Amino acid sequence: MSLKEILDMDLKYLLVGGKGGVGKTSVASSLAIALAEHGKKVLIISTDPAHSISDSFDMDFSKGEITRVKGVVGDLFALEINPSAAGEEISQAIGQPMGADQFSQFAAIPGLGELQQGLGEDLKSIPPPGMDEALSFAKILEYAEDDVYDTIVLDTAPTGHTLRLLNIPEFLDSFLGRILKMKTFLSNAMSMMKSLFGGGQEKDRTIETLEAMKEKVLVARDKLMDETKTQFVKVLIPTMMSVFETERLAEELDQHLIPHKYTIINMVNPENSNCPYCMHRHQEHQKNIEYIQSTFPLDQLTTIEAFDREIRGLDMLKILNSKLLKE
Ligand SMILES: Nc1ncnc2c1ncn2[C@@H]1O[C@H](COP(=O)(O)OP(=O)(O)O)[C@@H](O)[C@H]1O
Ligand SMILES: [Mg+2]
Repeated sequence: MSLKEILDMDLKYLLVGGKGGVGKTSVASSLAIALAEHGKKVLIISTDPAHSISDSFDMDFSKGEITRVKGVVGDLFALEINPSAAGEEISQAIGQPMGADQFSQFAAIPGLGELQQGLGEDLKSIPPPGMDEALSFAKILEYAEDDVYDTIVLDTAPTGHTLRLLNIPEFLDSFLGRILKMKTFLSNAMSMMKSLFGGGQEKDRTIETLEAMKEKVLVARDKLMDETKTQFVKVLIPTMMSVFETERLAEELDQHLIPHKYTIINMVNPENSNCPYCMHRHQEHQKNIEYIQSTFPLDQLTTIEAFDREIRGLDMLKILNSKLLKE
């Protein structure tokens, strides 16, 4: 058994995460290439605000649109999501600017106070923190659930952000549910006004848009918890600081029922008896690898040595994936 089995799984989501600088982007990019070359139609999306899939591939994906990755035999596309642009797009779909001010105006509408109480505390603090992130995640779910791609590879931001990202399906579900209730209430009020004072019955498509989005979020949430559809690949380096952070990450993933069977121990120092510094690092790494094995006994571990150069561009990424996916 090795990480190679992901090639033949029917994964919809392959998420790659870990501490900053451990090699997430390199691993995500190289696995995306391998999946595409294995015949899958793949979209790699970066949700790290400090985008670097462009740097990793040594190509430009920064225009905020889906771009085909040239030089790969197969269908590989890349996208760096700009969270605020995604936010704007969805605000437009909802038909309201999403500032707290706009929402507080609703308080003046008779009867809404009651409704608002029914909706809960957090409505009053819209937009809640992380809204941009939530909306860009909604955008990702849209790509995934439209079934244009076989697999979505997500190069996630460092751990803290990723953990927030995992709450997002629940958050979006309740948030969209509330907006929907409010929208229904407002549009009922509007049509009542219109029938009182005359005026056309133009159809408001916002509710349909929101309902479709909510449906997608729910479907995606089920897939994110299904080990045959989703795997979150944890990347770490063999230092105790990275190990502790990965333990916390694994706990959070468990809480959210996100499957995470694969762990990659990256940048392991090779043995070199001619270099006392390298030998010391090597021994320390070996000791930490033993600890990692005992901490994640059920995981499929893959170790990758520190290359003698930076991993950048297709050729290097392919060397990395041949090592990641060896039997
Ligand atoms: N096994 C490795 N050996 C040598 N350099 C590596 C290795 N893995 C990653 N790198 C390099 O380390 C740097 C950080 O990697 P990156 O994938 O951007 O990490 P992250 O996305 O976790 O911040 C990059 O310059 C990358 O080329
Ligand atoms: Mg990165």
